[in-house]
Amino acid sequence: MNGKLTAAALLGVALLATSCSGVGDAARDEGENGLIGIAMPTQSSERWVADGNNMVAEFEEAGYGTDLQYAEDVVENQVSQIENMITKDVDALVIAPIDGSALNDVLQTAADADIPVISYDRLLLGTENVDYYATFDNHQVGVLQGEYIEQALDLENEEGPFSIELFAGSPDDNNTSFFFEGAMSVLQPYIDDGVLEVRSGQTEVEQIATLRWDGATAQARMDNLLSANYSDEEVDAVLSPYDGISIGVISSLQAVGYGTEDRPLPVITGQDAEVASVKSIVGGEQTQTVFKDFRMLAESAVNMTDAVVRGEEPEVNDTESYDNGEKVVPAYLLEPVSVDIDNYEEELLESGFYEPEDIA
Ligand code: GAL
Repeated sequence: MNGKLTAAALLGVALLATSCSGVGDAARDEGENGLIGIAMPTQSSERWVADGNNMVAEFEEAGYGTDLQYAEDVVENQVSQIENMITKDVDALVIAPIDGSALNDVLQTAADADIPVISYDRLLLGTENVDYYATFDNHQVGVLQGEYIEQALDLENEEGPFSIELFAGSPDDNNTSFFFEGAMSVLQPYIDDGVLEVRSGQTEVEQIATLRWDGATAQARMDNLLSANYSDEEVDAVLSPYDGISIGVISSLQAVGYGTEDRPLPVITGQDAEVASVKSIVGGEQTQTVFKDFRMLAESAVNMTDAVVRGEEPEVNDTESYDNGEKVVPAYLLEPVSVDIDNYEEELLESGFYEPEDIA
């Protein structure tokens, strides 16, 4: 620990944390090796809940106490949660930002208190005050989505034209452009050659972004795309960067009659292998998702944090890809895996990520 807090201050912080976290007391106990603040974006997506739980368990095993907080996609909540963690004198912060550029002031406060910062899954932008980054190969996530569409429509051999609509993630999340550029590295040549056609004409990331990755926002945009561009044409593929968006898009398509034998749903990608989407894949609706084994991400972030707290050099495997505008953040990248009906059992069940009853 870097300093001491009075009992009254500790009590105050504890009460504050209890009132805004919903996480039990155990999460604030300091371990023999110290206390780690974990700031996660939202519990509305099950993956972040798993990320938080996995990290708490791994940190405990490594002798650390944790303060795990979710900000429910409200940037101001995340700022004040991190301020509280700094007040508690945590030994390190692990942060998955809601808005990658919105934490610069609080990160300066952390730096002034000599608290190291690990960026988790999403990169902290425009600040010197981030030490390391644990994530997946985000460009590759997009490549897997693009390649899936390429293969499903056999774009290498067919002339088309096939119609496609494009969705991207939240514009304030650095991953959004990595996913989109990865996918377009595969799809753009087919658009240029006329094999793929975006009937809406919406191909810029600003036009296709989905604030906070919100499924209902994506559903509303898909409703508009369908009524404006597909009254007498079918849509053959939808590039979706994330399962929550895919589920919204599918609802929109089903509402206008897609999903029957005569009118099948288009090829629809996704990401995170969330329960609803795995069920949807098994049920023949969503076509693909990208599985990122969050157990490995938690382990990677915990190993990184432990090394930093001990004053050692954490293992990294990428020192070039993630320039946050102020520095290139050294990263450890994990490999994402494309999953569909043919390999979900092997990837998701045999790996123990899900039990069969989870997705039944
Ligand atoms: C991204 C993350 C994805 C997905 C998305 C929405 O930053 O890399 O895996 O979870 O946020 O939560």
